[in-house]
Amino acid sequence: MRAWILAGAAIAAMGTAGVAMAQDVIAQRRDGLRGMGRQMEAIKAVTDARGDTRPLVERVDNMITFYQGLPALFPAGSGTGETRALPAIWSDRAGFEQVNANMVTQLQALRAAAASGDVAATTAAFNQTGATCGTCHRPYRGPAR
Ligand code: HEC
Repeated sequence: MRAWILAGAAIAAMGTAGVAMAQDVIAQRRDGLRGMGRQMEAIKAVTDARGDTRPLVERVDNMITFYQGLPALFPAGSGTGETRALPAIWSDRAGFEQVNANMVTQLQALRAAAASGDVAATTAAFNQTGATCGTCHRPYRGPAR
């Protein structure tokens, strides 16, 4: 009897730990995505000012690294809580990973444009990058709740 109660308590504690872990990964990815928003603003400031695009390579590299690791920030079980992640991320995992792979490819194009120092090419690649963010947000990010 006592063993059963203890086992039940242990399982309940494990369940709580799982929820806590999901909240951690949600906070981590939201924080990272806010950082991506800041990187985009910083890049736009340079293209708007028609500044030197070459130092932007470092920012784009940071973004590439983040998106390469993005799928891991959406483990199964992290779709509830303080999150706008839609269930489609898990029901259509292949589609989600494909739009993310497109994001990385687009960032590589932005990186090449920035490295060339060509402001017009960097601006065009930047606009395309912003559009690519939307190709994931539309199907996989819901309204704030
Ligand atoms: C592969 C999918 C995907 C791509 C690509 C993507 N996002 Fe997101 N983004 C999401 C999802 C899903 C959320 C909601 C995350 C959550 O609430 O757990 C989100 C949330 C955000 C948030 C809100 C973070 C918060 O909660 O405060 C910002 C800002 C953001 N994304 C910026 C960007 C920018 C900028 C890009 C492009 C450079 C981008 N995202 C590309 C899927 C993506």
